Amino acid sequence: MDVIHSVADLRERLQREPNNVFVPTMGNLHAGHIQLISIAKPRASCTVVSIFVNRLQFGPQEDFERYPRTRESDFAQCRAAGVDVVFVPEEREIYPERQTFVVEPSDLQHILEGEARPKHFSGVATVVLKLFNMVRPHSAIFGKKDYQQYIVLRDMVRQFALPIEIIPAETVRAHDGLALSSRNQYLSPPHRAEAPRLYRVLCAMRDELVRGSRDIQRLELDGMAELARHGWRPDYIAVRRQADLQAVTAHDLRLVIVTAARLGGTRLIDNIEVELQD
Ligand code: PAJ
Repeated sequence: MDVIHSVADLRERLQREPNNVFVPTMGNLHAGHIQLISIAKPRASCTVVSIFVNRLQFGPQEDFERYPRTRESDFAQCRAAGVDVVFVPEEREIYPERQTFVVEPSDLQHILEGEARPKHFSGVATVVLKLFNMVRPHSAIFGKKDYQQYIVLRDMVRQFALPIEIIPAETVRAHDGLALSSRNQYLSPPHRAEAPRLYRVLCAMRDELVRGSRDIQRLELDGMAELARHGWRPDYIAVRRQADLQAVTAHDLRLVIVTAARLGGTRLIDNIEVELQD
């Protein structure tokens, strides 16, 4: 496995390797990331993982400085998973000058996660476009854990006609249902015990929709109230269409319930897809 720090070295290494698949990450790898790598591996002769905590996608009050940086363990996990190239650039490699050109994901950046985190998706789309141009993969894998991020990047690739296939991966969860996330380690033991409720609430809402309930507003409010009763501060729980995360109409059968909620100082996100019968 090659660990590469500069864009010049990356380009040189990948010149020999036109058939590569890419898994962008911010490091602090866990089984969710490893699953993306295992989906990537059989698709190409070279699997590239990037590890870069991207300042551009963090708000001023967010956890950029304290985001967990665990290089050695990340490298060991990449090696064990059979990664060929790990790209770990310093900030000046990705942003050698102030980034004045950015990708603005129009509609999607103002709703749901975008409403709570105003510049977040522009920061994500901008760094992913840059990483795509550095790695030049034919495919890239993204987790549905970050559902809106996946939709933003899928649409970016389509609208800019980038020659890259975006492959979604299912969310990997702990035994109790909590979606794996680097931020779970911020949770105190009592909050860690409470955290699986987020997914249980989503499952209960999905079951009601599948049973035929169509009062979406009531479902959303009940879900928020259930979380609030147990000490959470929900930002949103919303039933939306999978295709574009807009409001559901009577004809929509493919839905997703997305949520973000705070437990103590930790903000968790999760989602569940719902397929309705005609
Ligand atoms: P990061 O949070 O490190 O996640 C990297 C990739 O792992 C993303 O595609 C994310 O959706 C996926 N992932 C995280 N937890 C997962 C889980 N429990 N199950 C399945 N997949 C999971 O997302 C980012 O980094 C950044 O925004 C990035 C795309 C790298 C741009 O900076």
